[in-house]
Amino acid sequence: MAQRTVQEYGAFARDIGQILYTEEQIQQRVRELGVQISADYEGKNPLLVGVLKGVLFFLADLLRAMTIPLEVDFIAVSSFSPQTRQQGYVRMIKDLDIPIGGRHVIFVEDVIDTGLTLNYILRTLRVHKPASLEVCTLFDKPAKRLIDAPVKYKGFDLPDQYVVGYGLDYREKYRNLPFVGLLAAHAFKDAAQEKRSG
Ligand code: IMP
Ligand code: MG
Repeated sequence: MAQRTVQEYGAFARDIGQILYTEEQIQQRVRELGVQISADYEGKNPLLVGVLKGVLFFLADLLRAMTIPLEVDFIAVSSFSPQTRQQGYVRMIKDLDIPIGGRHVIFVEDVIDTGLTLNYILRTLRVHKPASLEVCTLFDKPAKRLIDAPVKYKGFDLPDQYVVGYGLDYREKYRNLPFVGLLAAHAFKDAAQEKRSG
């Protein structure tokens, strides 16, 4: 399939100030991760656990790049208290369907920023005693890390700026863009408050 160009998105794409990773770069890197994880988990029937909604496209592409039997499940979290909107307050709003005890679990994230969300989720998953638990994230923003994040598989580093596309949203928009970019100033209102929607 031909690569989509930013022009095809019309006014919608004018909200993107700068493309950081093109569709082609993302697809290439996700395929590499799929090959690497398939080799590491041969014979282990891993369970990939994704966190909704930002991980939607990454997980779908990663799964199709994998060449071994596997299972998939989802959780959803809210990163802000609805009352106080206090950062670091994480709670589970959709739990796992598949029991993870004794399983080789790979937790798949779209982006790790402070690490607070990841830390909460890993603590929650460890309670169920998986045989192993590793982290795969498409994007890593190391600049604002508050808590150590044990990332085994990583797609790309990101600068400490708010990005959208390929599943990542700003106020629920822009998830459907196949590339990842910075929001232009005119489209950007107080993005620091926008993490809650995952
Ligand atoms: P953390 O708890 O600070 O590590 O935040 C992680 C979550 O915040 C991610 O799972 C995303 O849902 C969201 N997030 C962080 N940075 C961005 C961004 O640049 N764009 C969209 N969502 C983001
Ligand atoms: Mg997320």
